[in-house]
Amino acid sequence: MWTHHGLVVLLATLTSITAHLGIATSPSSSGNFHRNRRDIGSNDVIRGVNLGGWLLTEEWITPSIYTNGAEDEYHLCADLGKKKCLSRLEDHWKSFFTRDDFEEIKAAGLNSVRIPIGYWAVDVRDDEPYVSGQYPYLIQAVNWASELGLTVLLDLHGAPGSQNGQDNSGLIGPVLFPTNTSNIERSINVLKNLTEEFTKDIYGSTVIGIELLNEPRLSNNFSMSQLKDFYSDAAEVISGVDGDMNIVMHDAFWGPQYWSNYNPLSNSTSSNSNNSIIDTHQYYAFEPLNNLPHDVILEKVCNISKLLKNSDLGILPTLVGEWSLETGHSPNSSSSSIQNKDDSREKRTWFRLFFEAQLAAYSPSSIGDQPSRGWYYWTWKTDYDIDTWSYRRGVAQGYIPKDVSNSSTLVFPILDNGCVDSSFNYTAPKNPGSGAIRHCPSGLLAVSMVIVTISFFCIL
Ligand SMILES: *[C@@H]1O[C@H](CO)[C@@H](O)[C@H](O)[C@H]1NC(C)=O
Ligand SMILES: *[C@@H]1O[C@H](CO)[C@@H](O)[C@H](O)[C@H]1NC(C)=O
Ligand SMILES: *[C@@H]1O[C@H](CO)[C@@H](O)[C@H](O)[C@H]1NC(C)=O
Ligand SMILES: *[C@@H]1O[C@H](CO)[C@@H](O)[C@H](O)[C@H]1NC(C)=O
Ligand SMILES: *[C@@H]1O[C@H](CO)[C@@H](O)[C@H](O)[C@H]1NC(C)=O
Ligand SMILES: *[C@@H]1O[C@H](CO)[C@@H](O)[C@H](O)[C@H]1NC(C)=O
Ligand SMILES: *[C@@H]1O[C@H](CO)[C@@H](O)[C@H](O)[C@H]1NC(C)=O
Ligand SMILES: *[C@@H]1O[C@H](CO)[C@@H](O)[C@H](O)[C@H]1NC(C)=O
Ligand SMILES: *[C@@H]1O[C@H](CO)[C@@H](O)[C@H](O)[C@H]1NC(C)=O
Repeated sequence: MWTHHGLVVLLATLTSITAHLGIATSPSSSGNFHRNRRDIGSNDVIRGVNLGGWLLTEEWITPSIYTNGAEDEYHLCADLGKKKCLSRLEDHWKSFFTRDDFEEIKAAGLNSVRIPIGYWAVDVRDDEPYVSGQYPYLIQAVNWASELGLTVLLDLHGAPGSQNGQDNSGLIGPVLFPTNTSNIERSINVLKNLTEEFTKDIYGSTVIGIELLNEPRLSNNFSMSQLKDFYSDAAEVISGVDGDMNIVMHDAFWGPQYWSNYNPLSNSTSSNSNNSIIDTHQYYAFEPLNNLPHDVILEKVCNISKLLKNSDLGILPTLVGEWSLETGHSPNSSSSSIQNKDDSREKRTWFRLFFEAQLAAYSPSSIGDQPSRGWYYWTWKTDYDIDTWSYRRGVAQGYIPKDVSNSSTLVFPILDNGCVDSSFNYTAPKNPGSGAIRHCPSGLLAVSMVIVTISFFCIL
C-alpha cells in the first residue's frame, strides 16, 4: 500500500513540477501511440529535428559533396552529369544518416523527425539534371523511425520550377513553380505518391503528416490565392487517399494568425477532413531579423510564444517546423575552424538561454486546445557541425540539454506568461560538454529531495 501511495504522491509531485516548469510531458512516448489516428501533438508534444541536407542537399550543410563550385543540387548534377552525380549522391544518402543517427536522436529525448525531400526523388524528367534514387533511403528512414518509436513528418522541400528560388528548393533563381500547371500537377502527384506509400499498414502510423510545400515565397509571380488553390487541390488528393493524414501547410511567412480558421477543404464536395496544421518557421538568422540585440530577440520569442499558446484566436494547430540558434552570421562553408573556433563560456551561456527560450515558446504549456503542437529544430547535423545549426553539437557541448524530454534538466524557470525568466542567473560550465547544472530555486530543491526520498521508498 505504501508503495502504491508513494507512487501517487510521486506522480502528483512530478506533475506539479512539470506545471511549474511550464512544459507539457506525455504519459507515454512509446512508439505505438496513435494507432488509429495520426495525431500531431494532441497526446504528446512534438519534439523533433529536421534531417536537413540529406535526401535534398544544400551546399552549406554538406560542402564536402559540392566540390565543383555549384550552389544548389540542380547545378551540382548539371555540372557532374547524371551518372557521376548519382554515384556521388548515393554515397551521401548511404552515409550522412544511418541508424546510429536515429538512435542518437531518440537518445536526445526527441520523438519525431521532419524529412525534407525534392520532387525529383519521385518524378524526374530526362531533361532535368536532377537524379533519383532517394526513395529507398526514405523508406529505410521511416522504418528506422518506426522501430525506434519516432514519428515522421514528410516535407516537399523542392517543387518543380522552385517555390522560393533558394538553394533549399534545389534550384536558385526565379520562382517558377506557379507559372506552369504542369509544376503544380507534378507536385500533387508526388504528394499523392508519398501519401499512398506511407499510409500502407507496414509503416504503422509512423508518418503523422505530409507538408505540402516548404517555404513558398509569394510575390507578384506567386499570389496568396494561387497558393491557396494549390493547398486545396493537394489537400483534396491527400485526404482522398487517407482522411486521417495531417495536412501541414507552411504559413508562407505570413504568420500563423493569418491562417486562423483556414480549412483548405472548406469548399470540397468530396472531403470533410479537418486535419490542417500550420507550419511557421522562426528564424533570427536572416534579414530583417538578423543581428538583433539579444534582449530584442528574447522579447520577440516571448511574443510568438504568447501567440502559439493563445486559444482564442482560431489559430490552427501549429508547428514550428524550423528554428535554430543562429542570429545572423552566414555559415562559412569553406572553414570549420573559423566557424566553430569560439566555444567560449559566454557564447554557450547565450546559446543555452536562447535554446530554452525557444523551447518554452514553441512547446505548449499544457496539452489541450493551444495551437502549439511542438517543434522541429533545423537541423540534426552538418558536415562539420556548425554550432548554431547542429543539434547534436549542442548536445555534445552541453548548451542543448542531453534529454530534451526531461524538463528537470532545464535551467531557466518559466514565468506565468509561458516564457523563460531570462533574468535568471545562469552561467554555462567552464568547459564545453560538462553539462548544465540547474541552479535550483530553494523551493524546487526541497521538492526534488522529497522525490528522491519518495523514490527511495518506492524502490524499497
Ligand atoms: C512512389 O514513387 C517511388 C519512386 O518513384 C516508387 O518507387 C514507388 O513505388 C511509388 N509509390 C507509390 C505508392 O506510388
Ligand atoms: C517572375 O517571373 C519572371 C519570368 O516569368 C522572372 O523573370 C522573375 O524573376 C520572377 N520573379 C520572382 C520574384 O521570382
Ligand atoms: C510547362 O511545362 C511543360 C513541361 O516542362 C512545357 O512543355 C510547357 O511548355 C510549359 N508551359 C509553359 C506555358 O511554360
Ligand atoms: C471557398 O470559396 C470561397 C468563394 O469562392 C472563397 O472565397 C474561399 O477562399 C474558398 N476557400 C478556400 C479554402 O479556398
Ligand atoms: C475542425 O475541428 C475543430 C477542432 O476539433 C473544430 O473546432 C472545427 O469546427 C472543425 N472544423 C470543421 C470545418 O469541421
Ligand atoms: C512584442 O509584442 C508587443 C505587444 O504586441 C509589442 O508592443 C512589442 O513591440 C513586441 N516586441 C518586439 C521586440 O517585437
Ligand atoms: C571562410 O573562411 C576562409 C578560411 O579562413 C576565408 O578565407 C573565407 O574568406 C571565409 N569566407 C567567408 C564568406 O567568410
Ligand atoms: C531527468 O533528469 C534528472 C536530472 O538530471 C535526472 O535525475 C532524472 O533521472 C531524469 N529522469 C529521467 C526519466 O531520465
Ligand atoms: C550570479 O551568480 C554568480 C555565481 O554564482 C555570482 O557571482 C553573481 O554575483 C550572480 N549575479 C547576480 C546578478 O546575482
